[in-house]
Amino acid sequence: MEGKITLSTLMEMKAEDKKITMLTAYDYLTAQALDEVGVDIILVGDSLANVILGYDNTLPVTVEEMIHHIKAVVRGARKSMVIGDMPFLSYQISTNDAVSNAGRIIKEGGAQGVKLEGGGEVAQSISCLVRAGIPVMGHLGLTPQSIHQIGGYRVQGREKQQQQKIIEDACLLQEAGVFSLVLECVPRELARQITSALRIPTIGIGAGPDCDGQVLVTQDLLGLTKKTPKFVKCYAQIGDLMKEAFSGYVGEVRSGKFPQDKHSYH
Ligand code: KIV
Repeated sequence: MEGKITLSTLMEMKAEDKKITMLTAYDYLTAQALDEVGVDIILVGDSLANVILGYDNTLPVTVEEMIHHIKAVVRGARKSMVIGDMPFLSYQISTNDAVSNAGRIIKEGGAQGVKLEGGGEVAQSISCLVRAGIPVMGHLGLTPQSIHQIGGYRVQGREKQQQQKIIEDACLLQEAGVFSLVLECVPRELARQITSALRIPTIGIGAGPDCDGQVLVTQDLLGLTKKTPKFVKCYAQIGDLMKEAFSGYVGEVRSGKFPQDKHSYH
């Protein structure tokens, strides 16, 4: 645990107005790279379903699949805190399910905490998880596991009534014991209001610059995904670089340029 980011590190960062950095990872090498550059939190998001497994949304990913990837990430993260997402229907059916599935993510996966989506309706389960010693990160605003109910990936909390509901949910989650709260795709002003009202840090994605921290899906930031929302900033075009490297290899194998004698054993 020496030098590891903990819940108290994050509370201190909020108090000292130091921005918290969070990115997603689903494999060992990416986790190692994020850890080496000092990313505070690595999220093994259920976006695993989209960016690794190729599904259209996050709903199909299972607890087993999440644990498989969380284990790999944990092996690569020395200092960064690792949080594992609870997939769709792993906590919504009953509080018992929530505790036993979150317990597996901690016990088998080795994560330091779990993240789950929703407001007041999941507050009781969150209290039980916290009582069992499991740190929980909340997630409000655009909650992709409710995509069929929301009807699309769009900004949440533009109308007064919806804003009020998100603020109330944020307070309920804090009361239930979440150590941090992801705000996804909400107006900047709403995120600022919630951030200043809460004791716990907020982590924004498409929620403007006034949150206590920021998160992006790593594949979006690297330019590996084809269609990204407005809130994504692409820091490198790794997708193009990959294609260049792959076609270089294909061309050289076909033309006989690779492998050469220096790549051979004698
Ligand atoms: O699954 C995920 O990657 C997430 C982030 C977008 C916050 O929940």
